[in-house]
Amino acid sequence: MPAPAEGAPTGPGRSTRRQLLLGGAVAGIGAAAAIGADYALNRSNTEENTAPSTPMNGDEKVPFFGAHQAGIDTAAQAHGVFVGLDLNDGVDASALVRLMRILTDDAARLTQGTPALADSEPELALSPARLTVTFGFGPGLVARADSAGPGWLAPLPAFGIDRLQPEFSDGDLLLQVNGDDPLTVAHAARMLLKDARGFATIRWTQQGFRRAYGTERPGTTMRNLFGQVDGTTNPEPGTKDFDQVVWAEDGWLAGGTGAVIRRIRMDLDKWDRLDRSGRDASVGRSIANGAPLTGTKEFDEPDLEAKTAIGFPVIPQFAHIRRARGDDSERIFRRAYNYDERPLGAEVSESGLIFVSYQADIERQFIPMQRRLDELDLLNEWTVPIGSAVFAIPPGCAEDGFIGDSLLS
Ligand code: HEM
Repeated sequence: MPAPAEGAPTGPGRSTRRQLLLGGAVAGIGAAAAIGADYALNRSNTEENTAPSTPMNGDEKVPFFGAHQAGIDTAAQAHGVFVGLDLNDGVDASALVRLMRILTDDAARLTQGTPALADSEPELALSPARLTVTFGFGPGLVARADSAGPGWLAPLPAFGIDRLQPEFSDGDLLLQVNGDDPLTVAHAARMLLKDARGFATIRWTQQGFRRAYGTERPGTTMRNLFGQVDGTTNPEPGTKDFDQVVWAEDGWLAGGTGAVIRRIRMDLDKWDRLDRSGRDASVGRSIANGAPLTGTKEFDEPDLEAKTAIGFPVIPQFAHIRRARGDDSERIFRRAYNYDERPLGAEVSESGLIFVSYQADIERQFIPMQRRLDELDLLNEWTVPIGSAVFAIPPGCAEDGFIGDSLLS
């Protein structure tokens, strides 16, 4: 079949776009932008032809604009990509405004199932699948903005258990991209990185996963690669308790939070040699259903005073939950992802946890807990922190604003 002549209408809006292009009205936008425009003009046509008869998770959208950034109190999606970037030399406060305006625009579109401007693969943006993009600012970015961050915005103190690798640590800007579809997540991350590359270079990338969407009922606590139910004792999003633990109240960070991202290697090959009761004792909870050793159901309250017939604590002194539990001022919200990479050397596994926690004040809430775990925690026998980064997560923004405007404007 012969190709239609230039300017001949072949679908809704097509002739208009062609005339614009031929008239040079969009000259300079570039081929990639033209692809995006073409896609946008033909989208309704595509939808009509492929409208599904049942609702699909791919169509689910998480609002982008609001008081808080999405991706924190959002029910954790199946996939997560975390990227730490270093700002290029010479990127100053005004360049940061430009960068964050562009990235905000990309994220606002992509999370709603709309291609980014100049999207080179616009079809990949069609199914947002609960995509969220969350930005974090490291100490270096706040310094470039000629501003001061909260006192805790610095690398964590050194812990005896740490074996940190620079390729998984620190960074000026965090991109946290979460979604239920790995193709959507990969595309969104790439679009953001393409737009950031004039301003920053990649320092580290970490990819994590939970159960695939639909494998378990929504709300089921995740399991990590040790098989443990992980995330039971956590503040509940949407409650006052959650708000108090997570959202900061002061200065430009009000409505934002602090994020700790630690890559913790889990030695599955060594864990293989531990029997079931040893596994239960190391955490103080049953592997089978996550119940505390003093209870029968996952959400039973652990009884840290309970003793065995011969007087030993039922939940051992070295158990992870006993050591992690602080007083009410030391609570955090955990939202971890598993990782599983190509094993190195003779081992069968190179796996672990991208431990992610959010808390209003890292100094007050996180550091005392990590200190206690550093001193004593049986889980340390099988786990080693190999990466660590701290970011201030600015609040969300209004439709006419951009992420970081409370710091940069
Ligand atoms: C690979 C490393 C880790 C593994 C495998 C792990 C695993 C677990 C598991 C299975 C639980 C019990 C279920 C639950 O409430 O979630 C738990 C609880 C907890 N973990 Fe971890 N964890 C790790 C690292 C950390 C780190 C680094 C921190 C903080 C510094 C932490 C803080 C907590 C807290 C606060 C609890 C709840 C304690 C309570 O019951 O009050 N965990 N963890």
